[in-house]
Amino acid sequence: MKNIIDGEELNIPEHVAIIMDGNGRWAKKRLMPRNFGHKAGAKVVEQICEDAHNLGIKYLTVYAFSTENWRRSVEEVTGIMNLLRAYLKDCIERASKNNMRVRVIGDRTALDKDIVEKIEELEAKTACYDGLNFTIALNYGGRDELRRAVLDIAKDVKSGELTPDDIDEKLISSRLDTKDMPDPDLLIRTSGELRLSNYLIWQLAYTEFYFTDVLWPDFDINELKDAIRYFNGRERRYGGVK
Ligand code: FPP
Repeated sequence: MKNIIDGEELNIPEHVAIIMDGNGRWAKKRLMPRNFGHKAGAKVVEQICEDAHNLGIKYLTVYAFSTENWRRSVEEVTGIMNLLRAYLKDCIERASKNNMRVRVIGDRTALDKDIVEKIEELEAKTACYDGLNFTIALNYGGRDELRRAVLDIAKDVKSGELTPDDIDEKLISSRLDTKDMPDPDLLIRTSGELRLSNYLIWQLAYTEFYFTDVLWPDFDINELKDAIRYFNGRERRYGGVK
């Protein structure tokens, strides 16, 4: 879809994925604990959901906690989980106000039971909304997602429901956590790091990447507009020639 942004007609990416990096450094610069940065980061997530919707983005997928983030200190992991608890609780009300459908991707088996219950409630209660599709990657790792998909397919082959010849890219995509969503058109990573960090490694095969030095708690609508302008300057060829 197209939209006029600051007087310029631009193609709006249907699906934007974000690696929200730099919360720790943002807090350190202020001589504050890391969780202060995560709290500020969570506030920015709320605002960016509204901004993304207003700009015409249909899908927004954010990396909140990776399968590797358990290696952080107990204090930090507990802080992030508590932040997510509070976020999920408030999110039910906000989603109904903003017509936002919320999903969570990642391996739920390692999450606390009350968090899993909140996620299930949030997904069920917002499934009817057709505004922004907001997805939170939680205990998510791209390799782990592929491992779970392979395991799932292997079980079906073993039971005879599938044969090895049935395994094509479409089938693999249909067993991923993102099965109901289009692949991202644009990936944004904040804080100057140029890595994928195990995020959506299958889905990002043809995605345009936008890196900015801005730390996540400082990210705002102007940054999002810059990323969309950059996206419009790219020519997507999907491996072909134009
Ligand atoms: C990366 O910054 C950020 C995270 C690992 C956590 C992201 C979590 C939030 C923004 C809050 C909760 C999310 C939602 C959806 C409410 P970092 O800690 O790696 O920063 P650093 O690289 O500066 O240390």
